[in-house]
Amino acid sequence: MTQVHQTNNFPAERGYLVGIALQQEHALLTVEDSLAELALLAQTAGIRVVGQTFQRLRQINPKTLIGSGKLQEILDDVALYDAAVLIFDEELSPRHQRELEKQLGEELRLLDRSALILDIFAQHARTSEGVLQVELAQYEYRLPRLTRQWTHLARQAGGGGARGGSGGVGLRGPGETQLEVDRREITRKITKLKRDLEHVRAHRHLHRRRRQSSGLPLVALVGYTNAGKSTLINALTNAGVYAADQLFATLDPTTRRLQLPNRREALISDTVGFIQKLPTTLIAAFQATLEEVIEADLLLHVVDASHPNAAQHIEAVEDTLAEIDASAIPRILVLNKTDQLAGPVPKFSLIDTYQGTAAISAKEAQGIDELLHLIRDTLETRMTALEVVIPYQTGQVYSDLYDKGYIESEQTDQSGWRLTLRLPEDARDNYRQFVVVERF
Ligand code: GTP
Repeated sequence: MTQVHQTNNFPAERGYLVGIALQQEHALLTVEDSLAELALLAQTAGIRVVGQTFQRLRQINPKTLIGSGKLQEILDDVALYDAAVLIFDEELSPRHQRELEKQLGEELRLLDRSALILDIFAQHARTSEGVLQVELAQYEYRLPRLTRQWTHLARQAGGGGARGGSGGVGLRGPGETQLEVDRREITRKITKLKRDLEHVRAHRHLHRRRRQSSGLPLVALVGYTNAGKSTLINALTNAGVYAADQLFATLDPTTRRLQLPNRREALISDTVGFIQKLPTTLIAAFQATLEEVIEADLLLHVVDASHPNAAQHIEAVEDTLAEIDASAIPRILVLNKTDQLAGPVPKFSLIDTYQGTAAISAKEAQGIDELLHLIRDTLETRMTALEVVIPYQTGQVYSDLYDKGYIESEQTDQSGWRLTLRLPEDARDNYRQFVVVERF
């Protein structure tokens, strides 16, 4: 058991963390590192961590996940440190949740990593779609877990930074009948939320079609939570995106115009941070932001190169990219926070899967120009090279091509402007009548 000291000034709920190391399981992070990450998550959710422990297990206890001796030890610690919430680093099955709640008593709130992440999402969702999808994920998570600890729908789910992952202290439902009523109510809400989401998504698709018709290539930022994506998008575009030393400060996609060298342009989108042990049901809650990823022409994978677990973070992001079928999209590895490195920039084994790497400090605005050049060069290789002749009377087409394409050379003769350029593949068809040579 380790006591963790924190220096928060605000009165916060006191939390106690429990990690599990399964012997035969290949874990990305050590149990200690995973607990350190859980502590950050707890802190982000406004919980003050007062202690933590972990157990190495050959197999999990089907009832209480951990052994009964360990559970007693935890209860003693919880009393000693006056903790009000117990947070498991593993997702608790509905059965574990029920059995543990029986043994913990009514005063101690029980959470797991997923519930904590959902709470943080609820606090950070900003667009109407983000709010709806987090609310839906919360209800879907809770439905099979309804127990006596579960209290009041309005207080727990969705907006307003509800912090009751699995329940809250206070009101108790009067047993089984109330549970049935609650289940029906949640099922009804889930149906309604799904309907509302469909409406919002229909709008988003319209918006996306408009964006696609702009013909500009889309660059999406991906990376482990807290890697510095929002700071980077600000450094690249002066977009004024919220950046905070908190996990998951960015939940909804934010798309901006990006000026590249030589008057070239692209769109750039910030996306939600990835994290290890992110359950698939939660990945589904990021739909809006993940669509930005899947449709991107180029991914900037931002990594905090100064973090001791940077290699594991890269792997966790790559795993998630594979899970959402985005592994084939060209990507640049952006090694961020180099200002915090004591020695040389570390080398990472997965580097071959990238089109290029850039070492930067988003905060100090170092390496940004080189990165912009690399983005431009990588995008150009994804474009069709064309030679076009634009008659002088169609000046609008000429200026459109300057906006959308990367112009390599320009000559004028009696037939008009003769341009060699690269155009995003989607935009090419709109200008077919002007093409004289298509190089490849
Ligand atoms: P999520 O929203 O969790 O996905 O985070 P993010 O990847 O968008 O990270 P964000 O830009 O919010 O930055 C996280 C923290 O790292 C903030 O405190 C930033 O100020 C800090 N940070 C970002 N880039 C750098 C950098 O180059 N150097 C240093 N020293 N800190 C940085």
